[in-house]
Amino acid sequence: MEKKISDIVSNEAKAIDAIIEEFLPAEEGCAKTVMTAMNYSIHVGGKRLRPMFMQKTYEMFGGTDEEIIHPFMAAIEMIHTYSLCHDDLPAMDNDDMRRGKKSTHAMFGEAMGILAGDGLLNYAFETAIGAFDLVGDADEAGQIRRISRALGVLANKAGIYGMIAGQVVDIESEDKPAGEVTMDTIRFIHENKTAAMIESSMMIGAILAGASDEEVRTVEQIGSDIGLAFQIQDDILDITGSDDVLGKPTGSDTKNNKTTYVTLVGLDRAKEDVKTVSQRAVENLSKLPGSGSMAGIFLAELIGYLIVRDR
Ligand code: IPE
Ligand code: IPE
Ligand code: MG
Ligand code: MG
Ligand code: MG
Repeated sequence: MEKKISDIVSNEAKAIDAIIEEFLPAEEGCAKTVMTAMNYSIHVGGKRLRPMFMQKTYEMFGGTDEEIIHPFMAAIEMIHTYSLCHDDLPAMDNDDMRRGKKSTHAMFGEAMGILAGDGLLNYAFETAIGAFDLVGDADEAGQIRRISRALGVLANKAGIYGMIAGQVVDIESEDKPAGEVTMDTIRFIHENKTAAMIESSMMIGAILAGASDEEVRTVEQIGSDIGLAFQIQDDILDITGSDDVLGKPTGSDTKNNKTTYVTLVGLDRAKEDVKTVSQRAVENLSKLPGSGSMAGIFLAELIGYLIVRDR
């Protein structure tokens, strides 16, 4: 019998857990509390989609040196997890549940919630920089160039021209009267708070595997569409999902008076758009070399699976 895509994805996530584990800090020393809070926020769960997109894109472009990509896979999940720690803080979305457990600030207190996020962000870069230590003899200069470029993308897409920008506009759009937050604003928020991190995941995979500049640009566009669809679905699930399945409180957007994709166009249209945008991503993916490989086929199936995800 053929295996269900949901089972395949969760098996991949388990394998990624083992990779991330190798890079987590030891819980020791005077500042042990922060390491414990950092590790808690990662260990409670998560779908591990960003490292998954990174690894599969790397494989699709023929990357074979798994060692080099592992620190980047751990780093992207650390940055993503930091963004969740901070997103849940009382000053942001004020949510007490994440990944099925107490959110980091609810577990360790607000100050540690902030510091665990800071710790994860910084440690992500310490971790990714470790890729330089793994450079082998073959085409040493090329490898160093690719790792440097990947680090640039990691920094840029998580920062003020990426994820942070999206969070800023998201927060500033709260409590605005209906009509004041336009579709252009919502698209800016989605492109930055969510898509930027999926773009960087896939771009880093492509760059480390030696993809051309044009291929990396195509991958960025695919990541952008996946991210847009992903956040529309997140907004949908905030209304139609279940707290238990999602592992986070539904109704968070309503509670915070957020204009979302769904409040602007309604549930039916939002669901249609998730499909259309995801299909565009699959179509663009199919034009890339390697899209017929096992990793390429997996990526297309993963994009399809995310359209119907309930968590
Ligand atoms: C949640 O991301 C935050 C958004 C960008 C919508 P995920 O839905 O990927 O969260 P985890 O990592 O699985 O917990
Ligand atoms: C957050 O968007 C995106 C991040 C950068 C963390 P949301 O606020 O909608 O994410 P959830 O619903 O809390 O996971
Ligand atoms: Mg938020
Ligand atoms: Mg939130
Ligand atoms: Mg949400």
